[in-house]
Amino acid sequence: MLSLCLLSLLYLSTLGVTHPGSHDEGAYFRSLASSRSVQDARQKLARCSDHIKRSGVDARAAARRTAILNSYRGIPNAGTVSTSPRSFLPQAAQSSSENPSCLLTPESTIGPYWVDGELIRSNVTDGEPGILLTLDGEFIDVDTCEPVEDILWEIWNCNATGSYSGVQDFGHHHDDDNSNLDKTYLRGIQRTDKDGAAQFTTLFPGHYPGRATHIHVLAHVGATFLPNNTVTGGHVAHIGQLFFDQDLIAAVESTAHYNTNNVRITSNTQDGIFNDVNSATGYDPILSYTRLGHSLEDGILAWTTMGIDLSASYKAESAATLTDHGGVAHFHGWFIHQLGAREILVWVVGLGLVFWLTRSFRQFCLRRA
Ligand SMILES: *[C@@H]1O[C@H](CO)[C@@H](O)[C@H](O)[C@H]1NC(C)=O
Ligand SMILES: *[C@@H]1O[C@H](CO)[C@@H](O)[C@H](O)[C@H]1NC(C)=O
Ligand SMILES: *[C@@H]1O[C@H](CO)[C@@H](O)[C@H](O)[C@H]1NC(C)=O
Repeated sequence: MLSLCLLSLLYLSTLGVTHPGSHDEGAYFRSLASSRSVQDARQKLARCSDHIKRSGVDARAAARRTAILNSYRGIPNAGTVSTSPRSFLPQAAQSSSENPSCLLTPESTIGPYWVDGELIRSNVTDGEPGILLTLDGEFIDVDTCEPVEDILWEIWNCNATGSYSGVQDFGHHHDDDNSNLDKTYLRGIQRTDKDGAAQFTTLFPGHYPGRATHIHVLAHVGATFLPNNTVTGGHVAHIGQLFFDQDLIAAVESTAHYNTNNVRITSNTQDGIFNDVNSATGYDPILSYTRLGHSLEDGILAWTTMGIDLSASYKAESAATLTDHGGVAHFHGWFIHQLGAREILVWVVGLGLVFWLTRSFRQFCLRRA
């Protein structure tokens, strides 16, 4: 009788326990959107949009983006992928900042998949399959409204089927092996030029549970270059996420590799981080884009301008570090990120409760026996 009592209790106690792998990136990582420094930066950004137009920064950006398109000579630039106002012909690139709300993206959250120690390189594809995405980004100082040279712009995104390289992530289907730690695909760092701009060749990101399609962005200021093509020191002045037009996502998701992923697609408006950034700030974190050729498979050019507060300094916790002997996971960071502080609290309280219940129930059973 006693053992039956205890067994049934044990069974019941397991029912309410959350699955450790089923973490929700959006739920744990509170957006910085409401913090004071971000509010201040937001007001400054709004004031910059006129200056950027008048000072010619805008015109240079349009020329640069058109030049990137022209560099894809041999692939005729053909039309748009959807009727979205974001996708336009290269000739229209001059009017990229007509809507100032598209111009600047505010701060967002770092998420659980940042790997520090990454390589300085423009082409981050590492031969992974998927739709090529040429990304042109430009950083504007929110205090002076001038472009910022020598920012170290870092990006990371998941591959066509929703996996990140360089991390040990037991929550994600097939990347729970150590070999993933040594992979570097779709991660890299570039230095901005005198126009505050830099480019990456990456892949259009796939999707995974609970998050809309996005690219992570981090900006290092004052870092030192190392001979092995990495950087060290400095501080993190910007953390952000870039999102995509929903029609474009749908089009990409119907192509090879992307369409093998059976995980339900989380739309932008279903994504907590997107909603924080979008609704709380009025800024638009969606990238402008155009096709590089006749078909989507020829690749996509996407661009954005990001406001940066150079005095801001964010704590950026990495899931792993890329070293000269491969990737090294940070168990502590991994654990916190996987479960989230709230889940850990729930577990501790839950276990205490189970312990207390077991004792009371055992006494009850003993009295009955
Ligand atoms: C990028 O690098 C991969 C190998 O890592 C190579 O196959 C590909 O051609 C490169 N793409 C561009 C646009 O340079
Ligand atoms: C994405 O990465 C995972 C793990 O690194 C790999 O198993 C998968 O095949 C990759 N997806 C594609 C489309 O190559
Ligand atoms: C680059 O060099 C630094 C300093 O020697 C080292 O700590 C780091 O592991 C190296 N990174 C890579 C990817 O080789």
